[in-house]
This record gives sequence, structure tokens and C-alpha cells, in this order.
Amino acid sequence: MDPVLAIYPGSFDPVTNGHLDLIERAGRLFGRVVVSVLRNAEKTPMFTLKERVEMLRDATQMFPNVEVDTFDGLLVDYARQLDARVLLRGIRAVSDYEYELQMALMNRRLEPQLETVFMLPAVEYSYLSSHLVRELARLGGSLTGLVPPAVEQRLRIKVAD
Ligand code: PNS
Repeated sequence: MDPVLAIYPGSFDPVTNGHLDLIERAGRLFGRVVVSVLRNAEKTPMFTLKERVEMLRDATQMFPNVEVDTFDGLLVDYARQLDARVLLRGIRAVSDYEYELQMALMNRRLEPQLETVFMLPAVEYSYLSSHLVRELARLGGSLTGLVPPAVEQRLRIKVAD
């Protein structure tokens, strides 16, 4: 059987240590992991697509079987193009579950061959989100241990603009 290719899709605005924890776990489990950033999302991101990809590439360069890509349109179409068998999503708390369940079941309806796999981040990241990280950065709170140092630096520059 070919090594399983898993896609880890998201906005990654910006990547956090919670995302990286999940990527590391997935890298140990799957043959290949493609972390893919959604292009043209409805929400206006803090970081451009190019910046988000750069931060992800920088933060995942030590994982040999992890790549970073972008996608647009339906996730299931992108998964078909890559011949991926798994969609990977992180679940932190019960509050994530409803939205994730809807998305997983809709994706299954669209492509029954594709399995959504939910993974749990380390407990210390169970309350961490890109949204909270952006808010902390805007309000001058400490970001130490929440994002990689290079991302922290970019956040500081972004909020000083
Ligand atoms: O990090 P996010 O913002 O929670 O990621 C959401 C994402 C990118 C996984 C989701 O919005 C998505 O898959 N968008 C692509 C469009 C699509 O396939 N929609 C149907 C899913 S039910």
C-alpha cells in the first residue's frame, strides 16, 4: 500500500505552536503531510497568503515528510488532485466539534473515499488559536511559547505598522 498522504488544511493566520504540535504528530503517523493554506477566504487575514506560507515553511522545515502548499475552491477537489486519502483537522475542545463534524460530514458526502481524521493537540495548546494570538499581539500581551519566535517577530512588526 502506498504511504498515506494527509492534507492539513486551514487559514494559518498565523501558524501557532498548536498547529505545529499537530503537524509533528501527523508527520509521525502519515507517509506525507501537506499543510495547505486556503487562498481567497471570505475573511480578511492579518497576514498575506505569501507571508502565511513563508511562516509555515520556516516552522516546518525540520520535518522531512511535511510540505506546504495553497489551495482554492473545494477541499475535496484539491484532495482528489493530490490523490490524498486523509483530511486532517485538529480538535481542541468540545466547542470545535460541531463545526468540524459538519465540515467532515459534508466533505464525506462530496467524496466518500476521503477520510477526515481528527487529532488532539498537546493539552497546553488546547486553548490556543490564531485568533487569540492576533488579539494578544494587537494588545501587547506576551506571545512566548504560543508561536515560533520568527512568527512572534512578524506579529510585532505587523501590529506596529
Ligand atoms: O483554519 P480554518 O479557517 O478553520 O480552515 C477552514 C478550511 C480552510 C478547512 C475550510 O474553510 C475549507 O475547507 N474551505 C474550502 C472550501 C470547502 O471545501 N468548503 C466545503 C467544506 S464543507
